Amino acid sequence: MFAMKVNDVVSLKLLEQEDAKELFKLVDESRDHLREWLPWVDSMEQVTDYEPIIETWLKKFSEHDGYQAGILYKGKLVGMVGFHEIDWANRKTTIGYWLAENYQGNGIMTASVKALIAQAFIEYKLNRVEIQCGAGNEKSKAIPERLGLKQEGIIRDAEYLYDHFHDCVLYSVLASEWNAEE
Ligand SMILES: CC(C)(COP(=O)(O)OP(=O)(O)OC[C@H]1O[C@@H](n2cnc3c(N)ncnc32)[C@H](O)[C@@H]1OP(=O)(O)O)[C@@H](O)C(=O)NCCC(=O)NCCS
Repeated sequence: MFAMKVNDVVSLKLLEQEDAKELFKLVDESRDHLREWLPWVDSMEQVTDYEPIIETWLKKFSEHDGYQAGILYKGKLVGMVGFHEIDWANRKTTIGYWLAENYQGNGIMTASVKALIAQAFIEYKLNRVEIQCGAGNEKSKAIPERLGLKQEGIIRDAEYLYDHFHDCVLYSVLASEWNAEE
């Protein structure tokens, strides 16, 4: 099963059915924070709502079509990060992420996303990694910007959030631009 050490305090692991309760609790305690930018939060009302989605995540991983990993900070589940899918024909992928409210501000996500980008280029030999952030989501946009991704433009009405569409900013980095040593 996939696991990755990001640094001394952060590691990633695939979530399994036995993690459903902890995942539910984490999201439940951060609902107001997460629902501002994530469209799926309201639909996760009980622990069992995570069972089919964990199944889907594990299937995608086994089919080499990306993965969604739990982020462990000092051994505790604090959020998720992953590749939504992998377009092998065009050798590109998209990264998504979220952190529970109380674990923001420690660089956990920047380090995790950096590790995924390195994995995409070095292990998967992809050519392009994309990150799409809500245009008004300053904390999210700061991650690709901190890591030196290029802003390509605005995708208008890219996503529907509960009762409105919102614009997203598209960032990308190419294998030829990524310096694995930095
Ligand atoms: C987007 C989100 C993951 C950003 O979380 P975050 O904690 O700001 O991101 P990081 O973990 O990379 O931490 C960066 C912060 O830690 C600080 N920091 C401390 N040590 C750091 C380090 N070693 N490296 C980088 N940053 C560090 C940074 O200064 C920054 O704080 P600031 O915003 O006050 O400047 C989080 O706000 C979230 O999950 N939001 C809701 C869901 C969401 O929007 N998901 C994205 C959808 S596109």
